[in-house]
Amino acid sequence: MQRELGLLLEFRGVNTHYGDLHVLKDVSYEIGRGEIVALLGGNACGKSTTMKTIMGVVRPTSGSVIFEGQPIERLRTAERVKRGIAPVLEARRLFPRMTVLENLELGAYTRKRGPELAEDLERVYELFPRMKERRGQIAGTLSGGEQQMVAIGRALMARPRLICMDEPSMGLSPLLVEQVFDIIQQINRQGTTIFMVEQNAAMALSIAHRAYVLQTGQVVLSGEAAKLRENPAIREAYLGELQVSAAA
Ligand SMILES: Nc1ncnc2c1ncn2[C@@H]1O[C@H](COP(=O)(O)OP(=O)(O)O)[C@@H](O)[C@H]1O
Ligand SMILES: [Mg+2]
Repeated sequence: MQRELGLLLEFRGVNTHYGDLHVLKDVSYEIGRGEIVALLGGNACGKSTTMKTIMGVVRPTSGSVIFEGQPIERLRTAERVKRGIAPVLEARRLFPRMTVLENLELGAYTRKRGPELAEDLERVYELFPRMKERRGQIAGTLSGGEQQMVAIGRALMARPRLICMDEPSMGLSPLLVEQVFDIIQQINRQGTTIFMVEQNAAMALSIAHRAYVLQTGQVVLSGEAAKLRENPAIREAYLGELQVSAAA
């Protein structure tokens, strides 16, 4: 499918530690150009650490992170952003005292200002008409869902080739979750590759092309999303089947 276009991002045997805590254990991922790839897994298994390792917030102790054929694991975060990787991280990290528009403009900070900035703003406003109405509003006063939209919009302003999302549906109502996933699909159809961490496995597998499952820092399963949806182990662990309480 999409992978004919080649690989965009690779982890090759990545190990990541926090002090003595060994979090990612010999992890390999392959993200093809044009794909939506989901990263599933329970609490504390290393999902956010994966995203932080891509962005350079955490450095691997061994192994390689390769973007567009080049190792990037030694590069600073800002350099990775310049090369086309944009994060939508946990807790969204907007600038709460700045307006929606100012937050969006900051997403383009690695590029020269010019007519493209206005074009990109229009593109974001097309995806999120609400943001246009609210462009003068102080970001910290937006609802959780609106803040998530601004965070995604801000990532798009960098014209990234890869967007890394850490739990985009967290804290959102079911309706907003649907909207956010719909937007993610639209962004992907416009050509941006997406690597996303999700607790909401059913939703993630419904839009992803492929997925990886992490368990205590190791990849225990991977494959096409459609196949993983049918996998009994996945259904039991992540898709809400057999939710019979052991205590009952
Ligand atoms: N900055 C840090 N310092 C020490 N331990 C950390 C740090 N960040 C995460 N951890 C630990 O690493 C493990 C994996 O964390 P994380 O990648 O955030 O998990 P997930 O996102 O899958 O829930 C957890 O046990 C967490 O407590
Ligand atoms: Mg996490």
